[in-house]
Amino acid sequence: MCSTNATDFLRALPKCEHHIHIEGTLEPKMLFALAERHNITLDSSMYSTIPALEERYRNFANLDDFLAYFNKAMDVLLDEEDFAALAFAYMQRVHADGLVHAEIFFDPQAHTGRGVALSVVVNGLKKGLKQGELEFGISTELIMCFVKHLPVESALEAVAEMKPFVEKGDVIGLGADSSEKNNPPSKFAAVYSLARELHFPRLTMHSGEEGPADWVRQTVFDLGINRVDHGFHAADDEKLLEELARRETFLTLCPLSNVRLQVTPEGVHQSPIPLLLEKGVKFSLNSDDPAYFGGYILDNYLAVHAAFNFPKPTWRRIAQNGIDGSWCSDARKAELSERLEAVMQQWEGKEI
Ligand code: ADE
Ligand code: ZN
Repeated sequence: MCSTNATDFLRALPKCEHHIHIEGTLEPKMLFALAERHNITLDSSMYSTIPALEERYRNFANLDDFLAYFNKAMDVLLDEEDFAALAFAYMQRVHADGLVHAEIFFDPQAHTGRGVALSVVVNGLKKGLKQGELEFGISTELIMCFVKHLPVESALEAVAEMKPFVEKGDVIGLGADSSEKNNPPSKFAAVYSLARELHFPRLTMHSGEEGPADWVRQTVFDLGINRVDHGFHAADDEKLLEELARRETFLTLCPLSNVRLQVTPEGVHQSPIPLLLEKGVKFSLNSDDPAYFGGYILDNYLAVHAAFNFPKPTWRRIAQNGIDGSWCSDARKAELSERLEAVMQQWEGKEI
């Protein structure tokens, strides 16, 4: 448990989120409501009641066990209105947490593979995000992820199909998510080559969540990707950490996700965050799939504080690294840095 002061301080910090799957914000309540709206009969072996579903979410055995629920739930997302509502609900929720900038993943193949047009997905998400930007002043960007469990050819098609949305600036980058099992980063080299050819401005990849340190090494050294989503197991290799610090590779850590997916089964205190700070590896704290993992952005900050009790200067450093590592304009970064400075001044001399 964190003190009221710590909670207020962490809420006030201008926070940036770089690892959030919009499909992972589909709360059970919205899932059931959308199923009803679309007359979809949910599979009763997975979806009986909201409390039963929430209990199931507290008991994931691993990443693949979670992904079965994550991928199934998306069946209720069908039209532009659904995607807009999902995106706006996320913005509304994180505004209350003091989020100021979000870089949001979505899985186009998971939708087009069910017959939902890509334009429905992107235009719907953009609509919800725009409304949130206007109401709450949160800046946002969209990043498509290809899914590692489908063939490389499918990922190549998904990247090619995204070209017009990248050209318009609706989507700023490419990531890769889903199952890491039997999916080393090197398998996807051609997908990232195509993204470079098509001028995707930004590249990232889920790596080292369940997979070994060597896969983080492959992601950074062989594929030339300098942001790594999770990158958790890089911490098993001190030499790699030193190299990541030297290259200013940015890790997007997800503390509560790691607990729910049994990466740190005993709790956030098993996270290598203090080691990363010591080694000078840059990272941000993120919620990953908050509807499934028991917490949005502030809950993740609070869980880290409960585990490590960092002093205010350390929190300032984490927040500043989150701003500096964001894929927004320099002007936006300057604005957010000023906000951080103002919060630190307000909290000068106060205990957290
Ligand atoms: N898709 C949604 N959340 C994910 C995670 N934590 N790892 C891999 N793929 C995901
Ligand atoms: Zn993720």
